[in-house]
Amino acid sequence: MVKSYIALPRESGLKPRLLVPLALLSLAFLFKYHSFTASPSNAQQSDRFSPGTRPTLIKNAKIWTGLHNGTEVISGDILLDKGLIKGVGHFGTASYGSDLDVIDAKGRWVTPGIVDIHAHLGDDSSPELNGASDTNSVKGTIVPWMRSLDGLNTHDDSYALSISGGVTTSLVLPGSADAIGGQAFVIKLRKTAERSPSSMLLEPPYQINASEPLDPSLPPRWRHMKRKPKYESSFKIWLVLTGRYLGAVYSATRMDTIWAFREAYNTAAQIMKKQDEYCSKAEAGEFKGLGDFPEDLQWESLVDVLRGKVKVNVHCYEAVDLDGLVRLSNEFKFSIAAFHHAHETYLVPDLLKKAYGKPPAVALFATNARYKREAYRGSEFAPRILAEHGLTVLMKSDHPVLDSRHLLFEAQQAHFYGLPENLALAAITSNSAEAMGLGHRIGYVRKDWDADLVMWDSHPLALSSTPVQVFIDGIAQLEAPHVYEKPSSFQESPKVPNFDKEVQLTLDHDGLPPLRPVKGGEVVVFTNVSNVFVRNSASVQSVYSNSGFGGVAVARNGRLVCTGERSECFTDEVLGSVEPVVVDLKGGSIEPGLTSYGSPLGLENINQEPSTNDGFALEPLSQRVPNILSGTITRAIDGLLFNTRDALYAYRAGVTAGITAPTHYGFSLGLGTAFSTGASHKLETGAVIQEVTALHTSIGFDDTPSVSTQIATLRKLLMGPSEGLAGNWFTKVAEGLLPLVVETHSADVIATLLTLKAEVEAAKSTRIKLTISGANEAHLLAEYLGKADVGVLLFPRPFPYTWDRRRIAPGPPLSSSAVQQLLAHNVTVGLMNAEIWQARNLPFDVAWASLDVNGSMSKEEAIALGSVNVEKLLGATIEAKDADLVARQSTGGNSLFESKVVGILSPRRGVVDLF
Ligand SMILES: *[C@@H]1O[C@H](CO)[C@@H](O)[C@H](O)[C@H]1NC(C)=O
Ligand SMILES: *[C@@H]1O[C@H](CO)[C@@H](O)[C@H](O)[C@H]1NC(C)=O
Ligand SMILES: *[C@@H]1O[C@H](CO)[C@@H](O)[C@H](O)[C@H]1NC(C)=O
Ligand SMILES: *[C@@H]1O[C@H](CO)[C@@H](O)[C@H](O)[C@H]1NC(C)=O
Ligand SMILES: *[C@@H]1O[C@H](CO)[C@@H](O)[C@H](O)[C@H]1NC(C)=O
Repeated sequence: MVKSYIALPRESGLKPRLLVPLALLSLAFLFKYHSFTASPSNAQQSDRFSPGTRPTLIKNAKIWTGLHNGTEVISGDILLDKGLIKGVGHFGTASYGSDLDVIDAKGRWVTPGIVDIHAHLGDDSSPELNGASDTNSVKGTIVPWMRSLDGLNTHDDSYALSISGGVTTSLVLPGSADAIGGQAFVIKLRKTAERSPSSMLLEPPYQINASEPLDPSLPPRWRHMKRKPKYESSFKIWLVLTGRYLGAVYSATRMDTIWAFREAYNTAAQIMKKQDEYCSKAEAGEFKGLGDFPEDLQWESLVDVLRGKVKVNVHCYEAVDLDGLVRLSNEFKFSIAAFHHAHETYLVPDLLKKAYGKPPAVALFATNARYKREAYRGSEFAPRILAEHGLTVLMKSDHPVLDSRHLLFEAQQAHFYGLPENLALAAITSNSAEAMGLGHRIGYVRKDWDADLVMWDSHPLALSSTPVQVFIDGIAQLEAPHVYEKPSSFQESPKVPNFDKEVQLTLDHDGLPPLRPVKGGEVVVFTNVSNVFVRNSASVQSVYSNSGFGGVAVARNGRLVCTGERSECFTDEVLGSVEPVVVDLKGGSIEPGLTSYGSPLGLENINQEPSTNDGFALEPLSQRVPNILSGTITRAIDGLLFNTRDALYAYRAGVTAGITAPTHYGFSLGLGTAFSTGASHKLETGAVIQEVTALHTSIGFDDTPSVSTQIATLRKLLMGPSEGLAGNWFTKVAEGLLPLVVETHSADVIATLLTLKAEVEAAKSTRIKLTISGANEAHLLAEYLGKADVGVLLFPRPFPYTWDRRRIAPGPPLSSSAVQQLLAHNVTVGLMNAEIWQARNLPFDVAWASLDVNGSMSKEEAIALGSVNVEKLLGATIEAKDADLVARQSTGGNSLFESKVVGILSPRRGVVDLF
């Protein structure tokens, strides 16, 4: 705007001298005296109002407004009109007559629309096409002139998906390949009549077009910027979910990067100084020889940072980087809106308070951690600890790193691990809006605020809570929401467990608390047991149920030896002479341990640190395999790493086994293995559950060679004659003795595999055990998979990362879930995951999937989704006598958020581990 103003007089042919004084006075006013506080919108109509939108009255809602530190809840109505909230609580609507759409919320929870402070929606759009995203510039380290708006694709499938999760506003940040990545923009996700990127913007800065004359009477608007202090040397992006290696950027060190920052800010500071001198002279009427206003299009946004007009968002993990940024903010006197990712912030709260201006907010993932050195000390307790230090906690998606559709799940987990209810909801609504400088119009349910709301099917912090309707600018976004009734207890916020002890250990150990369990003694007695489920190799059964509190269970050397009333189990015969360890489950249960599959759990410590991992298998179709290896096949068991933090976190969450295939990029052949996540090394009793489980391969698009060549290879190997060791394993597959697990998503490939299976079976008169893993599009062939007896392993919440997996069954509120559609055709379904940190979340995934099927799934079937089904589909056999059981202590409710794992009974390893 500065530029345009100065340019105007010359272009208009007037003598600059005449106009300059007035202009400069307004400039001076804007730069130096304007107090930069946005005012609440008090317009009669939103600037985003879409003409023709009918007014809507939502009646009988339980409204979480976001006010009073997130503690205010009002029972009443909400009126939406002209893109704004026109009433909250109790008010008359007579003036509207019948010109009003009325929705009965039936007492459901209504919250503000979710505001995501970190997304790459549109810039990193899905399905990803043309091999590259528009998220980063690769042309320099410091590129403050780049603008995320310029890459915003309006056809990202994510908009509709994220809206279906309640997200209404996102800050679209440039990616993190650069130190200063450029300017970020706030968008609302709904479709607009104009269909343009610009029409999605919310209060864009005036700088999006430079043709406007400076008007000091305009209300100030925030600009947004993204930076990152560490240009990680050997910074690698490995997107496990897309199965593609995106390449490596070898670049500067921390010292280089902080210098680059200082140099850039110094440049901006000098420009600012010249501008201020210019304005002072103009104010004093010293126009002689004043010349052009000092400015530079490349640096103007950094000058605005120094003038306090930019919300600076910093991608920053470790104490060393946080310290560097805090020093920089003081050296150049600018404040930081939020530190993002920020995995070590909870270890240095006092450092954050030293930042210039006010302490930055901290935008976190809940449990996505340990993927690189910078994230290794990430803790699920970070939100709670930061909040206890009075710092503002935000949860963010980094979409598509996490699918922002499920940003609510991040807040739910933060709450589960101790962030108070009011702050957990504020972390994705009011507080994120405030951190973006937009709290004057979004993030609250408040009269005159934007009409962005979500009506939920249950309490928003209850697991699997799903929007029944989403409003953006007063416009309903879900056409025919596909939602089910939830159990009535899900209308209350969950009574989450106490983790005080774990928090203290985390802090005492600088973010790396000991995770190894403590052996609980030869005899362990569990009291106040309400349910006991056990399993064999094929199914899960309930063997004890007690609605009261009296049940007991006794374990000896890790094996359950008695379940029932005290009178039945408290006998000399059962207890023996050893003094038992007693654990009160407080109405909790004992259930089979779950089995993780999909990620390289057990082969990897830190994803982006090659020195900590088994590494990648050779690709026989695209890489030259040395002669010495001809005829061999890679076995995951040979690469197993025990005691990895993610395996131990999984173990403590009740995921006691892992099945892993060799890590690979594309088409490869390897043998999977099953192991105990709680074992300390391979030679320990029970550490290896099954040396070889199944033969794994993967059919990928965009791989070399073609899909049809990959299929031809499989056909040759299955039809024989067998050659070498790999051939021998394929003979076993063709004979139906070993499952073949094919990782693929496309319905077309799955159909081809079903044809190939029939072809081989006809030729060999056998029945092949085929399992499809990944399988985003499997639901399209549910009937055929059921008939062919081919089971599938699914990601619990599918996402259309690439073209071959875009036809997802998104699940409620957009459709029925893939699990439900496949089960309807008797297809065996198991759940899988992509990255090792996700293994611990399998219990949540299972419970959530079972809540998304309209109450049609028993607890036994739900547990099977994450245990016996997974094992069956992957060729692992775990007998009842060897199966781990998990003791869950209840905290008062019966949802998974209302219990905590306190022990593992491991007959295979001969111990009860207590936490
Ligand atoms: C906001 O809520 C949190 C947690 O419930 C509490 O610790 C904090 O003191 C509250 N802040 C204010 C200003 O009331
Ligand atoms: C520039 O953008 C502003 C704000 O979005 C808009 O009001 C104005 O009309 C635009 N100017 C031009 C010339 O397009
Ligand atoms: C069972 O739970 C009740 C209620 O929490 C508690 O008072 C009692 O001590 C528990 N009994 C045992 C044997 O742990
Ligand atoms: C699934 O199995 C059940 C029980 O065996 C059977 O009644 C039902 O017809 C089957 N459904 C389909 C679609 O095959
Ligand atoms: C869910 O199940 C209930 C009861 O079985 C049924 O009435 C309802 O139609 C189902 N909902 C959907 C969306 O299928």
